[in-house]
Amino acid sequence: MSGATVLLRAAFDPIGKGHLQFARAASLRLGADVVFSPIYEGKEPMNVRAEMLGLMIKKENTYGFSLDYFEAKSRGTSGVLDTLRHIALIRRGQKIYLPLSGEDFAALGKETLRQITALATILYVPGKNDQVDDALLAESKAVRFPYGRIGSAYEDDLRNLRLMELPSYIRETIENKGLYFISVLGKHMSTKRLLHSISVANLAYYIALGSKVEMAEKAYVAGLIHDIAKHLAPDQAKLQLEKHMPEALAFPAWTYHQFLAPFIAEEVFGINDADITTAIVYHATGKAHMTPLAKIIYSADKIEPTRGFDSSSLISACLKDYYVGFLEVLAANREYLLSNGYQIDNPLTKNCFEIYLGGSHA
Ligand SMILES: [Fe+2]
Ligand SMILES: [Fe+2]
Repeated sequence: MSGATVLLRAAFDPIGKGHLQFARAASLRLGADVVFSPIYEGKEPMNVRAEMLGLMIKKENTYGFSLDYFEAKSRGTSGVLDTLRHIALIRRGQKIYLPLSGEDFAALGKETLRQITALATILYVPGKNDQVDDALLAESKAVRFPYGRIGSAYEDDLRNLRLMELPSYIRETIENKGLYFISVLGKHMSTKRLLHSISVANLAYYIALGSKVEMAEKAYVAGLIHDIAKHLAPDQAKLQLEKHMPEALAFPAWTYHQFLAPFIAEEVFGINDADITTAIVYHATGKAHMTPLAKIIYSADKIEPTRGFDSSSLISACLKDYYVGFLEVLAANREYLLSNGYQIDNPLTKNCFEIYLGGSHA
């Protein structure tokens, strides 16, 4: 045990890389142990969050990290001051630090902040849009500690795909248990399509990770949401297109869901990242001049392992080099369409084949 303890009190709903970055920075810079203390209230019940925290302790290099369920066990009847007194008791003689986000300052109120300062040194961990008054920071003797991310707005971003800063074992737990964004996505598609989407997301993630695209997390999100508009009935899809993108009505009905995906993703999750939307908006047809991320999503969508054909060599090609792999996927797709008597008559697919494969066969 070291001479200082950081009480990291949060819902951990879910735990993200920002929490871990904070904990590592605190442990290094303050020479402190870090106690992860979940509060009782959360979107997911305590036992589910506890399982994820347990995984974190098992998987991370957690020297000096520990879990404390004192507050969670009180089932919402105790608060920050009780927990601080509890920690002060079991860590007697140690310096105690309490990290707070901007929202925490607003939520706690001056009197509680004053009582906290008697028990601990406050670390102010600024968030994306935080604005805490300098006077309030001075009054509560808070030390700015701008490392990592904590706070309920951060966790809300994690739950809704606006930030994909999740350790891989937490992402897998969310997928396997159908939590947060997976549960929301499940309301917009069948189980089969949900499994396809998770599979595209994971394959796209690893293709991007192995390439120089440097957008593995965005590739995951794009893969997950690419078919979010596919459940819409044709007349509904038409209505939505008339509203958002009337020019797309000139294309065949099977393409509608690609054009609508960005709009539905923004409606459902608040996603409006241009890298992600350009990666999904032509995922079914392809087009000329696709971004690297769009090429990755196109490939992953066609060849993910649940598709029902042996795509292993195409998967290997993409994992080795996303661009070469994409060309192979395109060629295989054109071959499939032609040999099954499909007409390649929409200009987007035609241009895509022409520019990347050469026009002679298209
Ligand atoms: Fe699709
Ligand atoms: Fe798909």
